[in-house]
Amino acid sequence: MAISTLTLNDGNQVPWIGFGTGTALYQQDAQNTVETAITNGFTHLDGAQMYENEESLGAGIKASGTPRSTLFVTTKLHRLQPHQTAKTALEVSLKKLGLEYVDLYLVHVPGDHAGRLQEVWRSMEECKREGLSKSIGVSNFEVAHFQEILEGAEFTPSVNQIEIHPYVWKSLKPVIALHKEHGILTSSYGGLSPLFRAPGGPLGPVIEKIRTRLESTRGQSVSAGQVLNKWLQQYGILVITTSSKADRMREYLDTANVPELTAEEIELIENAGAQRHHKFFSD
Ligand SMILES: NC(=O)c1ccc[n+]([C@@H]2O[C@H](COP(=O)([O-])OP(=O)(O)OC[C@H]3O[C@@H](n4cnc5c(N)ncnc54)[C@H](OP(=O)(O)O)[C@@H]3O)[C@@H](O)[C@H]2O)c1
Repeated sequence: MAISTLTLNDGNQVPWIGFGTGTALYQQDAQNTVETAITNGFTHLDGAQMYENEESLGAGIKASGTPRSTLFVTTKLHRLQPHQTAKTALEVSLKKLGLEYVDLYLVHVPGDHAGRLQEVWRSMEECKREGLSKSIGVSNFEVAHFQEILEGAEFTPSVNQIEIHPYVWKSLKPVIALHKEHGILTSSYGGLSPLFRAPGGPLGPVIEKIRTRLESTRGQSVSAGQVLNKWLQQYGILVITTSSKADRMREYLDTANVPELTAEEIELIENAGAQRHHKFFSD
């Protein structure tokens, strides 16, 4: 089944769910896992210079035999070396990936470019203008970081990829409001953290109740992870996840077939999430 897409503010389309090569694959050879993810239906791959595995991400893409034009590939700008720009750093990434362009290039961590965000964004814009990246965006940006780059920008970032799950949802309201104002697509990572990085919290029983309801409505199995990914999907959030297992990769993609959560269920998730603030990733 074709993966549904979201439309970016520059008109490009992005598959709503992407397979990440950070976290579990950080500094690891990602070739086999990436090939398995593509073989099992993923068309959107999320890489980064920081993960130090762009060569193997590229090798996995090649090994899959899938035409480049049907894939959506992201990489992210790491800290700049002296005399490097976002553009020259992307040229290095493209060589490692064995690609002529990426679909999305993100500024990975704003703190890596303190005092230079505007200059970095100019160079990101050059990457888009020259077709080295079809779209450009940011990651881990808060409102103040956007204020630094938006004024005078030629291109508004298309995406902000941030940690999103119910234990941080309340704290994200200001940045998500800014996304709405500027047509920036909200993208998530760490979405399953409440279930597998900190099990047993206030969210646990709520997710289990909703999972059971969805399973009986569907007449087919629904996992706890699918409940959280469905919650994200219903907000139109671009989900970035990962797995070492083919079964789980298929389960993630199958989220699209899970029945919708009701407004009451969404409220239950958010109220339970608001009982605990827990950010799992530092930026
Ligand atoms: N921009 C940034 O700063 C940033 C930061 C962090 C991550 N990311 C990106 O986001 C991607 C995904 O990150 P994430 O790991 O945070 O995603 P996630 O969706 O929160 O978690 C995925 C992990 O959950 C595990 N999992 C799923 N179902 C499970 C179950 N039933 N029982 C036990 N474990 C289960 C998977 O393990 P299995 O292998 O067992 O399936 C996998 O390792 C990264 O690879 C990276 O590309 C970006």
